[in-house]
Amino acid sequence: MIEAAPDSNGSTTLVIFGASGDLTRRKLVPALASLHSKGRLPLDLQILGVARSDMDDEQFRAILAEWAALSSRIHYLHGDVTSLQDLEAVKDKLASIEGNGGSHNRLYYLSLAPSLYRSAMSGLGESRMSEDFDGWRRLVVEKPFGTDLTSARELNDVAHSVFREDQVFRIDHYLGKETVQNLLVFRFANAIFEPLWNRNYIDHVQITVSETLKIDERGDYYDQTGVLRDMFQNHLLQLLTLVAMEPPHAFEAEALRNEKVKVLNAIRRIRPDDVGRHAIPGQYRTYRDESGVSPESDTATYAAVRLHVDNWRWQGVPFYLRSGKALRNKSTEIIIQFRSPPHMLFPLADDEDIPANTLAIFVQPDEGFHLEFQTKTPEAELQMRTAELEFHYHEAFSGQAIPDAYERLLLDALNGDASLFTRSDEIEQAWSIVDPIIEGFSLPTAPRPYYYSEGSWGPVEADRFMLTDGRAWLQAGRAGSAMP
Ligand code: BG6
Repeated sequence: MIEAAPDSNGSTTLVIFGASGDLTRRKLVPALASLHSKGRLPLDLQILGVARSDMDDEQFRAILAEWAALSSRIHYLHGDVTSLQDLEAVKDKLASIEGNGGSHNRLYYLSLAPSLYRSAMSGLGESRMSEDFDGWRRLVVEKPFGTDLTSARELNDVAHSVFREDQVFRIDHYLGKETVQNLLVFRFANAIFEPLWNRNYIDHVQITVSETLKIDERGDYYDQTGVLRDMFQNHLLQLLTLVAMEPPHAFEAEALRNEKVKVLNAIRRIRPDDVGRHAIPGQYRTYRDESGVSPESDTATYAAVRLHVDNWRWQGVPFYLRSGKALRNKSTEIIIQFRSPPHMLFPLADDEDIPANTLAIFVQPDEGFHLEFQTKTPEAELQMRTAELEFHYHEAFSGQAIPDAYERLLLDALNGDASLFTRSDEIEQAWSIVDPIIEGFSLPTAPRPYYYSEGSWGPVEADRFMLTDGRAWLQAGRAGSAMP
């Protein structure tokens, strides 16, 4: 990835469609302001916000006043991305911002309701705004990209009828997180872990993305979506691919994404009628009282899923994924549980299993790693205790704040580096993994979502699910203890 501010001859304009929305205010403009303060934005970058709210440049700047540093670069146009007439006005506005001479690069950002993606992309095509004769044109699309395999394919077809694949940047903001990228550095810039990174040494992998948040104001969206579409299809599967992929031959977009797609391809599909054996749905107790949620809703706000990657490296190593709303902690962690020593020389208590090393990778918060190992307790006669080697980002890089994912992603899109964006085949593969699980959950024979209390670790059935595999959910950083 290129770190320096891009050097462009001419103008570069970021056009944010849906600019009066929440994402622009909460994520995009703070990220841009931070990049600006670090001197990492193209010097000539202009930002054009387009939205249906009736504002002029000044009013739009006032809304974004907190980010005063950027205000001279910000422009606003009242317009509807689905109207060709309005897109003509966007073109005129762009012409006035860009001026004459040099190349005119444009990054179109769809910060819109997903239902508008299709018409927005078609509109950009019909108005010929995708044509890149006088500078590059790129398109950033937020998740969710489709709601299932069929709709994602349709959306990809529309995207490809207007843009080339290398112009399309599909966001999964988890890939912009520093520690997610560091997972690649950890695996492929250190020689000591990779020889162990396979079925011979690893017993299983756990990936947990837990949130304390409930669904807040997003009832209408969430009740149609559920945790599998909202979190698994994208964030959890992306984390899995980075843990399981083969080393790419180079750190560049196509090589990296080819390897990720191979992992997704190798994931064993769960049959809908067999979903009960592989996945546990949950729902927090007050979910049905939320506004926008049907009082009879069976939407899962929690799921635990066991996946297998059918290839030589991972045969027989289960990947346990779980995620939910209204849980006890907000945390994202990946735990690699290694195999136990084949024979134990040292005494164990009657109820004690042979201990195994675990490596916990904390994506957030308290970004870092913990490696657990056994030590001899001093003085005691060959008693063991689990100890930890710990690495914390905030200690190792004190004074350096971890940037928000959107900073990295915006910069990469401006630089044309698609490594941390999902390719069309990746999106489709991921849908083909979660679709049968979602379908299975809706069958009359499938378990209804199990209730769980807010502030818990999810339904007890998810603990039983692990127990039947002879395992337990691990709480990283607690020296191997099972989740309470
Ligand atoms: C989003 C989901 O993609 O990710 C949200 O739509 C979720 O439901 C969010 O809360 C979690 O992101 P983060 O960065 O807070 O872990």
